[in-house]
Amino acid sequence: MKLLIFLALFGLTTAAVFQHQLIKVESRKSRMKKEGTWEEYKKARKFLNGGHFFKTFSQEMNDYGDMEYLANVTVGTPPQSFLVVLDTGSSDFWIPDSSCSDSSNCASVCSHAWICSALCAASCCGGNSTVFEDDQKCLGKRMFNSANSSTYVANGATWGIQYGTGSCSGFRGEDTVRLGDVGADQLVVPKSAVGQATELAALFANFPLDGILGLAFPSIDNEKADPILFTAFKQGLLDKPIFTVYLQERGHEQNVPGGVITYGGLDTEHCSPDVDYVNLTSASWYEFKMDEFSMGTATSSDGWQVISDTGTTMIIAPSEIYAQMAQAAGVKDDGTIDCNASFDDLKLTINGKEYTVPAKQLILHEDNDECAFAIGGEDFPPNAPTWILGDPFIRSYCNIYGFNDQNIGFAKVIA
Ligand SMILES: *[C@@H]1O[C@H](CO)[C@@H](O)[C@H](O)[C@H]1NC(C)=O
Ligand SMILES: *[C@@H]1O[C@H](CO)[C@@H](O)[C@H](O)[C@H]1NC(C)=O
Ligand SMILES: *[C@@H]1O[C@H](CO)[C@@H](O)[C@H](O)[C@H]1NC(C)=O
Ligand SMILES: *[C@@H]1O[C@H](CO)[C@@H](O)[C@H](O)[C@H]1NC(C)=O
Ligand SMILES: *[C@@H]1O[C@H](CO)[C@@H](O)[C@H](O)[C@H]1NC(C)=O
Repeated sequence: MKLLIFLALFGLTTAAVFQHQLIKVESRKSRMKKEGTWEEYKKARKFLNGGHFFKTFSQEMNDYGDMEYLANVTVGTPPQSFLVVLDTGSSDFWIPDSSCSDSSNCASVCSHAWICSALCAASCCGGNSTVFEDDQKCLGKRMFNSANSSTYVANGATWGIQYGTGSCSGFRGEDTVRLGDVGADQLVVPKSAVGQATELAALFANFPLDGILGLAFPSIDNEKADPILFTAFKQGLLDKPIFTVYLQERGHEQNVPGGVITYGGLDTEHCSPDVDYVNLTSASWYEFKMDEFSMGTATSSDGWQVISDTGTTMIIAPSEIYAQMAQAAGVKDDGTIDCNASFDDLKLTINGKEYTVPAKQLILHEDNDECAFAIGGEDFPPNAPTWILGDPFIRSYCNIYGFNDQNIGFAKVIA
């Protein structure tokens, strides 16, 4: 009897907590720096984005070209695979669709030679659109063929997202989405909303990412559809309405395991069970109040609205605060920093607790002998959050995202 109960309980809990391996890839920034194309790219992005490198907060604000942590997901039955960002900074899930005939918004910048060469494939920028369209249908990404999926349901709605440098658009469908590795215990979510892009923004060119899987709230989904984890929870597939993100530090290693997302529970293998929760101030992004920061002599207790965002590779602060921190850390005029620079750790106070982001988390190894400061400065519009706590913060503390209770928790990394 006891054994039966044990088995039943065991079966229940393991069936409802799922782990998803992340893959660390080389960021586009790091690759372009090596190729010597980064400065041009940055200029082109800023130009197209009205003077901002990062997206303003009107929609998503991620700099998707610079992602380092990706994951495999599948859509449909039998499963078709895609490499996506699991992004707490947005809510839509989209992948390229096989009906994509468009050669992307690159076509629209072909005539601006320098912008085109910074963003798009060489074949586009030569002005030979024939070659471009053949080679670069949907930017050469993997595409979803709904005709091959027995579980696909069309719904006729259009779909689109405006990014800073262009838009992605297409239509909306529903299908079974599997999160987790093939062969492992996957979270299988029938009837998930899927954005099927037939046109992609140029910023997605030249990067091995097929699409984006948003993990934030329905209020910032472009069609207000349920993001996949909400659908999963409503279907009773998850033990608890939370997911835990553990990001692993891998220096400049590429294409290696880069951490784990645990759906439906805590990650007891990599994260301390002592979790400090704070209520969200807005359930759109994972937005909350931060009271203080310090980095050596750079310090302020003005208080800010901030977000936790797996989809941003840096910590973004208001430009005035960035300038203080850059000075405290000894960042050079060209934005680089000595790879072995030593400066004070970044300390953040949230809900009365102090969190430390070690200085070594703030030095990004882009090359063997060139490093970048992992903090950036950007001023977002009034009423928008003012800081983005991206990957360096999440590598320092496991983040536990409570999408039903609308809170977020932080726990020490133990592995
Ligand atoms: C474009 O490329 C195609 C295929 O290689 C070639 O046949 C055509 O002549 C090219 N057109 C121009 C204007 O270069
Ligand atoms: C998927 O569909 C395409 C065209 O509709 C077909 O050529 C292809 O063989 C199909 N693949 C599978 C695995 O069924
Ligand atoms: C992701 O999928 C690719 C094949 O598309 C496979 O080679 C790779 O091992 C997968 N990675 C993980 C972590 O599952
Ligand atoms: C957080 O929100 C919950 C309800 O969602 C409430 O019970 C709790 O008191 C709040 N905590 C704080 C510190 O405001
Ligand atoms: C730091 O690295 C530079 C090269 O990047 C080297 O010249 C210098 O000696 C190093 N300093 C220390 C203290 O290791």
